[in-house]
Amino acid sequence: MDFGMKNRLSRLFDRESERAVWLAIDHGYFLGPVSKLEDPAKTIKPLVPFTDALMLTRGILRTSVDASMEVPFILRVSGGNSIVGPALSNEGIQTSMEEAIRLNASAVAMSIYVGTEHEHQTLLNLGKLVDEGQRYGMPVLAVTAVGKELEKRDARYLSLCCRIAAEIGANAVKTYYCEDFEKIVKSCPVPVVVAGGPKLDTELDALKLAHDAVKQGARGVDMGRNIWQSPKAVGMIKAIASIVHDGASVKEAGKLLK
Ligand code: R5P
Repeated sequence: MDFGMKNRLSRLFDRESERAVWLAIDHGYFLGPVSKLEDPAKTIKPLVPFTDALMLTRGILRTSVDASMEVPFILRVSGGNSIVGPALSNEGIQTSMEEAIRLNASAVAMSIYVGTEHEHQTLLNLGKLVDEGQRYGMPVLAVTAVGKELEKRDARYLSLCCRIAAEIGANAVKTYYCEDFEKIVKSCPVPVVVAGGPKLDTELDALKLAHDAVKQGARGVDMGRNIWQSPKAVGMIKAIASIVHDGASVKEAGKLLK
């Protein structure tokens, strides 16, 4: 692996644990102003010290993030869809590689929609993004999106998606946690991180998700709503970090919730 690619990737993972707590705040690219992310700057400011990287769009980066911050970021570059449009899967690339480099991104991220009417275009988009990423030393994170079909989140489907993303050349894959999650990790040759999905009933449920995912081989989390939609957001990210980086149990991590 060339220096640029290696260097960017190394910024995204904690040096000691070699795992990652990424804070996902890219939801607005198709959901608009989701609850608790109406004012992204206000939401993320207290959370930034506890994250290894932010995941966001260029619009929120430019308007809501202090350029002197030290935390790296993963730039969401796919889009072209909306929650009120005809098909969430109808995504293209909306931010160029040149822009990602100009902004000093440590990786770019895009969604693939396997098994949908737009499977073909999103997989070819991933291939093109990986080609560009290889040309410029920019890692590519593939997100195995399910849109509104949350029931698709099982090991058979997600292992298919993750493996396809890795075969096309993604440097890392973000997917959902599910039963038999270990099977997904074992058949995916690049690091797998988990999303949190919609807000779970309790904070402990989200801590358990992170704990079980890491135990079964996830390299960390790329979590959003279960952190910043919690009334204990700072406690949540600290608790998640203790699980991911320090191997804390759910009970130990729960003590950090305030
Ligand atoms: C989803 O479209 C976004 O890519 C989010 O970054 C992703 O779903 C992770 O956030 P959450 O933990 O809220 O699911």
